[in-house]
Amino acid sequence: MTTPQAASGRHVPLAPGRLPLLGHAPQLARRPLPFLRSLSQHGELVRIRIGPRDVYVATSAPLTRQILVTDSRKFDKGEMFDELRQQMGNGLVTSAGDFHTRQRRLAQPAFHPDRVTSAATVMSNHAAAWAASWQPDTVLDMTRQIDTITLNTFLDVIFTDTSTDMKAAVRAWTGVRNGAMRRALSPLAAWRSHLTHTPRPTADPQADRALAALRHAIQQEIDQRRTGEQDPGGMLSTLVHARDRQSGAAMPDEQVCDEILNLLVAGTGTTSATLSWAFHEIARHPAVEQQLLREIDAVAPRTQVLAGHIPRLPYTRQVLSEVLRRHPVWLLMRRATQPVAINGTHLPTGTRLYLSPHILHHDPDHFPDPFTFDPDRWHPDRLTPHHTDTFIPFGAGRRRCAGDDHAWTQLTLMVANVLTRWRLRPADDHPVRSRVGTVERPDRLLMVPTRR
Ligand code: HEM
Repeated sequence: MTTPQAASGRHVPLAPGRLPLLGHAPQLARRPLPFLRSLSQHGELVRIRIGPRDVYVATSAPLTRQILVTDSRKFDKGEMFDELRQQMGNGLVTSAGDFHTRQRRLAQPAFHPDRVTSAATVMSNHAAAWAASWQPDTVLDMTRQIDTITLNTFLDVIFTDTSTDMKAAVRAWTGVRNGAMRRALSPLAAWRSHLTHTPRPTADPQADRALAALRHAIQQEIDQRRTGEQDPGGMLSTLVHARDRQSGAAMPDEQVCDEILNLLVAGTGTTSATLSWAFHEIARHPAVEQQLLREIDAVAPRTQVLAGHIPRLPYTRQVLSEVLRRHPVWLLMRRATQPVAINGTHLPTGTRLYLSPHILHHDPDHFPDPFTFDPDRWHPDRLTPHHTDTFIPFGAGRRRCAGDDHAWTQLTLMVANVLTRWRLRPADDHPVRSRVGTVERPDRLLMVPTRR
């Protein structure tokens, strides 16, 4: 709430190390995660500069909660999503305000537990076939393999039997679509929009062509569901047949298409980054791996792991929780759409704010020894109420991840179906480093499978 006594943003501590013209952008580019963590020592709300702009970073769980949950209606997601809206349309990820609220309600059936259960069959089959395709003692480029299997699985969840043309169209589009996060953190882009008031990136004909081809392919799938006698099903059918509870209206085709593009962006990079980290962490922690193998063998001895097995894999969930704690989506962005008071500071409309699951997940007060990979911290006996506010791998509030159940199911089935057959070891002693883009990913993950 805005109060007359609230101080202006100028009173918020400015992080040290700002460079003329560039601000803190070089630190954010070179050492994003240590830089973000270092901000906690300067306060709960800290100011950084990206070129000519002030950005406020919330470093504590209460402020993060205020922005994501209590005052969520006072924010949209900012420039990066304005830019993404031009590529992905106005879907759940990119939209704002009342439109987003209506759309989230309308799309809800796509995330219903029944839909997740039928998606789980697709996920389990893909995972089992993937694990069956390996040869022992050959080198696997795991990040690449995981990108492919995650995308192919998700495409079949959306479209059922995805055509080769659709796969090619999605690949062509994802290949040219990137760079929004880089531009959002770029001091040059900030200066350009500051001086010219043109936030739009320069036109990219290749990306436009790829997008037009993909929209065309999705439209054909929609047509088949609207008119065809044999509806192929999948998440797309759920969206096509969704009706507004009050008006009974369906989503226009263009909106359905926007939602599919939004889902493709939201559901693939995040899941594949988490899976890559999961296999990396499991291989590095043999005691964790042993306990996982015992659990999985007791539930599904050397057979395909199915959705029905998941409730009996609590330790697998602990391991995945720890992966999501150590390697979450590192940065969330918000922009005030009205004046707001945060931590006693008055921030005007248009103020940019960053929130970081990475900062909260590495707070030693809540997660002692935060760099140690310790799935036992998720044992039910050790959980405390603070975990709800400090552990936010799927965000919080009205913009919380809509696909978290899909994600948990997919992560569990992929890990469990691989471990029923294989143990994975690093192919060499090259240290795995973080590469931080939209999400944090391992830079390179070469692994060798040995048959169990
Ligand atoms: C491990 C995998 C995943 C992680 C870590 C993850 C994380 C997140 C986070 C942190 C947000 C909130 C962003 C913000 O507040 O600015 C989000 C939003 C979203 N995610 Fe996920 N996600 C994952 C998988 C998925 C999957 C598989 C789907 C689709 C089935 C999905 C669909 C969405 C959608 C639609 C939104 C936007 C929700 C809204 O604003 O209403 N995500 N995700």
